[in-house]
Amino acid sequence: SHSRSFTIKASSSSTTIVEPEGIKITSVPTKPIEGQKTGTSGLRKKVKVFMEENYLSNWIQSLFNSLPPEDYKNGVLVLGGDGRYFNREASQIIIKIAAGNGVGKILVGRDGIMSTPAVSAANGGFIMSASHNPGGPEYDWGIKFNYNSGQPAPESITDKIYGNTLSISEIKMAEIPDVDLSRTGVTKYGNFTVEVSVFDFQLIKSLLTRSDFRFAFDAMHAVTGAYAKPIFVDKLEASLDSISNGVPLEDFGHGHPDPNLTYAKDLVNTMYSENGPDFGAASDGDGDRNMILGKKFFVTPSDSVAIIAANAQEAIPYFQGGPKGLARSMPTSGALDRVAEKLGLTFFEVPTGWKFFGNLMDAGKLSICGEESFGTGSDHIREKDGIWAVLAWLSVIAYRNKDKKPGEKLVSVSDVVKQHWATYGRNFFSRYGYEECASEGASKMIEYLRGLASKSKAGEKYGKFAINPSTPYIGNCHLSILLLFDCLKLLIVGNYVLQFADDFSYTDPVDGSVASKQGVRFVFTDGSRIIFRLSGTGSAGATVRVYIEQFEPDASKHDMDAQVALKPLIGLALSVSKLKDFTGREKPTVIT
Ligand code: G6P
Ligand code: ZN
Repeated sequence: SHSRSFTIKASSSSTTIVEPEGIKITSVPTKPIEGQKTGTSGLRKKVKVFMEENYLSNWIQSLFNSLPPEDYKNGVLVLGGDGRYFNREASQIIIKIAAGNGVGKILVGRDGIMSTPAVSAANGGFIMSASHNPGGPEYDWGIKFNYNSGQPAPESITDKIYGNTLSISEIKMAEIPDVDLSRTGVTKYGNFTVEVSVFDFQLIKSLLTRSDFRFAFDAMHAVTGAYAKPIFVDKLEASLDSISNGVPLEDFGHGHPDPNLTYAKDLVNTMYSENGPDFGAASDGDGDRNMILGKKFFVTPSDSVAIIAANAQEAIPYFQGGPKGLARSMPTSGALDRVAEKLGLTFFEVPTGWKFFGNLMDAGKLSICGEESFGTGSDHIREKDGIWAVLAWLSVIAYRNKDKKPGEKLVSVSDVVKQHWATYGRNFFSRYGYEECASEGASKMIEYLRGLASKSKAGEKYGKFAINPSTPYIGNCHLSILLLFDCLKLLIVGNYVLQFADDFSYTDPVDGSVASKQGVRFVFTDGSRIIFRLSGTGSAGATVRVYIEQFEPDASKHDMDAQVALKPLIGLALSVSKLKDFTGREKPTVIT
């Protein structure tokens, strides 16, 4: 800690204090203003009143005059609000006075936006809001101050502030430029720092530092190794041993740096062990993919993006004003569609590939999107973002547990997912990947399916094809009563009525460009889908992808294992496509 010695330079109307670290602080003369007594919840007046000269500045300076300097000197203050009219101007005033009074750092929500509970997670902060009162130039503005454990300032302090507004004579303003609050990142002025964030790091830290919450991040010896420690350990105070495979290596430590149940085996084993961590995540070679796990629980990427979207507004400051729109790639399950519908958001279905989201983001139509291929992201950048997804999930879990006392049972990852299913229904989803097939057979299969789709008619029944004695599943039926029961169920429920089948084609709503032949899909009247496409990311032969999805509204069936629930539909997909005949493959190489 350093002590500040100010040198005072006289000037005509104001005094400039040259501070050792280089920021100039101006002492602006002022006079007391009547009526600045805080009400039940901070100071609220019409916008016009706050815009009068020094009205806001007087109150903010009086507040600093009321606090013991050790409470804020070189400390961190949070600044956020509900995005109402005058918040932008007010933010700049508050930042300058805070710096002028020796605050070390201000954490601001992007565009100054952050909810009251989010600010409350910090040790001291300003909330620019008149809560439920109307906003706009003719209406209300307000400011609240939350004290060191995040609670609204007690009367002992608000009385002092009021007293000081009646005797104030100077405002200490730092001479720094306006801070661009639309750009996330850190700006330094001497020893004073302004950080504009997407996430509420205080909230996440409050979760990661709990003794009853354990976090595990597997960097898979790839690029996120360089980010994991600075972000999760240094900044958010997770314990150092929560990071595994954190050193980037040329051969990824002999691993295959793809975060899924097959290749992130170390993490999966840890998460499924007795007394394993509460939250697990991994990222891929270049850091854009992610996998999210709970204790003995896997969150499918399709569910993950839907759950982030459903919780974004309350848990992530960046989305405080509500997401603009949602989007997924075609093979990704329809879980996100249901969230969009419920929240009344515009929704887009694009072909596989992140490039299709960018135009929608640039046009201001899309905030949150994801793909079944372990990509999740938002319009803060134009690529999917593995660490972002982990921070988004940590935000959701932290938000749900912010009031939990030590010893109280926490809301877990699986609780969040199951509650989501109970509200929206569950989209059972699985992807079968057949890697390195001979290209010829794989292409012929897609051609065959394309032909089938083009000849298909709505109303056709598909279920009966599922009963194919040559599939290993049927072959095993006699092995147990349980499997026999499954077979009977297959016979009964295996009746899928076709709604339509096609080869997906997409017209970009922004520039009108068309992408065709993006995957053959069979969509049934109950919302079930089977989809076939060839991977565009392999390096040898062809990788066939089969995506299987079935919607289940009945919560009593949500606990079923996806592979069990989807068995009839998987059988149907394999028989419809004649996959074994075309590729010679009995089994997929990767199931996600
Ligand atoms: C890359 C792209 C993703 C895409 C995925 C599909 O990761 O960035 O946007 O979803 O590939 O891979 P696939 O192997 O199915 O073509
Ligand atoms: Zn990647």
